[in-house]
Amino acid sequence: MSNKSKSKNKFQVPRGMRDILPEEQLYWEKVKQVVSLSAKAFEFKKIDTPILEEKDLFVKGTGIYTDIVEKEMYNLTTKGRDKLVLRPEFTPSIVRAYLENGFSSLPHPVKLYSIGPIFRYERPQKGRYRQSYQANFEVIGEQDPVIDAQLIQLFFFICKKLGLKKLITQINSIGCSDCRPGYKKKLMNYYRNNKKDICSDCQKRLKQNPLRLLDCKNIKCINIAKEAPQIIDCLCDNCNNHFKSVLEYLDELEIPYILNSCLVRGLDYYTKTVFEIWPEEENGRQISLCGGGRYDKLIKLLGKKDVPAVGFAIGLDRIVNLIKERKIKIISKSAPLIFLVQLGDLGKKKSLKLFEELQRAGFKTASSFSKNTIKAQLQIANKMNVRFALILGQKEAIDGSIVIRDMILGSQEVVPLNKIIKEIKKRIKK
Ligand code: HAM
Repeated sequence: MSNKSKSKNKFQVPRGMRDILPEEQLYWEKVKQVVSLSAKAFEFKKIDTPILEEKDLFVKGTGIYTDIVEKEMYNLTTKGRDKLVLRPEFTPSIVRAYLENGFSSLPHPVKLYSIGPIFRYERPQKGRYRQSYQANFEVIGEQDPVIDAQLIQLFFFICKKLGLKKLITQINSIGCSDCRPGYKKKLMNYYRNNKKDICSDCQKRLKQNPLRLLDCKNIKCINIAKEAPQIIDCLCDNCNNHFKSVLEYLDELEIPYILNSCLVRGLDYYTKTVFEIWPEEENGRQISLCGGGRYDKLIKLLGKKDVPAVGFAIGLDRIVNLIKERKIKIISKSAPLIFLVQLGDLGKKKSLKLFEELQRAGFKTASSFSKNTIKAQLQIANKMNVRFALILGQKEAIDGSIVIRDMILGSQEVVPLNKIIKEIKKRIKK
């Protein structure tokens, strides 16, 4: 049943959240499978962290003046008065797990990936949900710019396997604690001169989080941001060289990118490289498929040691939506090989046992014992894209035979029931 056809019920799914229905699972399974295989190919190890975390982890990690912390967290207080939140992102959780589990004594870089839900109390719209799913990748303990480029390469690798083309990387560098303060001063001077023309949110940002002035979506503010001083012109030598190298690696990989001097990302921990990857046709709309960057100071902020790191997260809901929008065919590897059609009382009885024998022989078999007509059952078999339909009716049950129908070739043949396993094996070999 589609979401549209559901009737108004007394209880409804919470606003901005949704059920992922059985017919959609095919897409989700495929995307998660490609993500996991690609993560392994790029030598990431899987880690699962709790959905609930201490609130302060994000206040400190993500940043007190970010939208996520100011407006979007789902808060709860436990009976023991602990202040917890539903995780709004993975990165601080992964850093916490890295520190808490003593990963700092492992050989570096430590490469970790996770797949799971995140929760943000945002205004719901297409592609933006209050419960969404991310595949998150972190590389901890390496400052070489090649890793920044390799993460972008990984995203394109995943998309290629899913048949997703026409993507564009938006990239910027937001400097480090040496060069950013100088840039911030310049930016604030520029915005003070334009103070009367910026929106009320930007008036606040000017005091609390000036870099975010650059990615305000208000049309007046967009025009002001276009003329603002660019951070690229203020980078120190270290950040400048790092950024140049990332771009050179992307050129080498033939990954398409555009420099976006207004890309600052909405999370406080970033240093140097930041990036988002968008579908080409959606450019300009708020629909990034993934986003990430370097966060060389977060581990020190949450722990003690100065350890550089870089990572990104993919919005799986948006990937699934894009696959559907672009009508990319996903073929399920788990589709059954055989559909067992049963007709009449005797046929049904004998099919029950045969169903088990076929499964035991290792053939993925489907059936619909509640449907009685051959037409209805063959229609289901067709939809499932099975290779063979086996038809066991009253006559066959009495004769000790069965009809084997090749759904691809359209041919059919009657064979002895006790030879059916052999007959299927013979046909698969052909
Ligand atoms: P983010 O840009 O907030 O970064 O999220 C990454 C991706 O998650 C977005 O590009 C988008 O595709 C998806 N996403 C985020 N919020 C929603 C939503 N409400 N509905 C649907 N999709 C959404 C982070 O979360 C960082 N932790 C990424 C990172 C990892 N940076 C370094 N390491």
